[in-house]
Amino acid sequence: MTNERTNLPDWSTLMPLLPDQGPRRCALYEALRRLIETRTLAPGAKLPTTRELSTRFGLSRGAAVAAYEMLIADGFAEARIGAGTFVASAVPHLAEIAPPRARRPEPAPVLPGALGVASPDARTTVIFRRLMSTRLARPTPRAYHYGDPRGARVLREEIAAYLRAARGVRCDAETVVVTTGTQQGLDLVVRAALSPGDPVWIEDPCYPMALAALRGAGLRVTGVPVDAEGLDPALGETLAPGARAVYVTPSHQFPMGVAMTMRRRLALIEWARRTGAWIVEDDYDSEFRYAGAPLTALQGIDDAERVVYLGTFSKALHPGLRIAYAVLPEALLGPVLALRERTDRFPSTLADEALADLLREGHFAAHVRRARRRAEVARDALVEGLAAGGLAVAAPEQGLHLIANLPEGVEDAVCLPRLHAAGLGARALSSMAVGATRRNGLVIGFSGFPPDVLRAAVARAGPLVGAASPG
Ligand SMILES: Cc1ncc(COP(=O)(O)O)c(C=O)c1O
Repeated sequence: MTNERTNLPDWSTLMPLLPDQGPRRCALYEALRRLIETRTLAPGAKLPTTRELSTRFGLSRGAAVAAYEMLIADGFAEARIGAGTFVASAVPHLAEIAPPRARRPEPAPVLPGALGVASPDARTTVIFRRLMSTRLARPTPRAYHYGDPRGARVLREEIAAYLRAARGVRCDAETVVVTTGTQQGLDLVVRAALSPGDPVWIEDPCYPMALAALRGAGLRVTGVPVDAEGLDPALGETLAPGARAVYVTPSHQFPMGVAMTMRRRLALIEWARRTGAWIVEDDYDSEFRYAGAPLTALQGIDDAERVVYLGTFSKALHPGLRIAYAVLPEALLGPVLALRERTDRFPSTLADEALADLLREGHFAAHVRRARRRAEVARDALVEGLAAGGLAVAAPEQGLHLIANLPEGVEDAVCLPRLHAAGLGARALSSMAVGATRRNGLVIGFSGFPPDVLRAAVARAGPLVGAASPG
């Protein structure tokens, strides 16, 4: 059927739905422009009247007129006096310039048991909002300038004081660099300190995002299997001699959860001193220690300046803050900061200053105490729920996740879709392998969801993976 007022087939069926948000004139402009660029509306075709558009989309006439004015101004349409508005005779053909690409899928919904979810804390939210708005209302002169590539000094001072007291890290405000997540810190360090093709070690299994950063920097990565004492540098030297660096999570190995023993720590530092290699220590969840004294950070026992220390606020506060820190040996400060300056220059001064207030006024310490208690309760609920489903798991002494072993013959990757469909956001341990040997199990987080929700989600898991449910 042809619409009598235009020379087009029934144009209304060609019109995509307009997005709900944003000014109507812009939404209509974008929709029409796309139809013109993709030649869905051919050059010279008569466009509907503004009255038709406003009726069809429930817009004001003014919005339709404004959209046409924008199309005309940008050369996509032409107005012919007395005849109406037409698609311009010469417009770029989008399909030839850039073929429509497959859309990236939206992130999947976060299910109980997922990793990387922080628990909200109502008191901290109120305090942080107040501190943020005070900083917004009374900005320091520094807020109007380009900042220090190390991050705001006030925050570096607070982080250094916290790390010296809580983790035995040797540092001061001069050696701390505030980063946009551990991910940026790791990426900057490996790109500044190493060259593509350099051999490096990583724990096997490992934190997949760290592996991605190392591989992304063009390094030759060898996985060194982790045992009950953590990574063994002697094994590393056998598997890949001449490594220039190693990425480790000594206080709580990700994902296995073991703490690197003191003799391995000393051996690793000795190896780095002897070979001139770098140790990148990721201390990602040290705030969440439930039993036993924590070992001080590896960085604190290194007197050869070979350790880069990375820590984050993603676990104790939340990942959306994107604030983490690196403590750098003197020799790496210059190269890392030069790289930082030519990528994102410096982190958000506003967020740095408000976070410094949170630390200085003691709110962060109180927050961590509450967060730790909450995580411990959630951990116990998770362990209970797993036991109810027939999966016995020992409660971990640190961190925000655990590993559940699966019954004989059940493969993690095979049962994972069933678990996700049933509402449990576990990950497959095998997906975190570096080398050919893959360990089997479920990596399950216990942060960010109420204990009863977690308990219920995992109680369903056992029977789904074929574990015998007790009783
Ligand atoms: C081992 C490890 N390191 C670091 C992080 C935090 O990364 P970021 O600071 O980039 O949020 C995580 C988060 O899941 C992690 O598992």
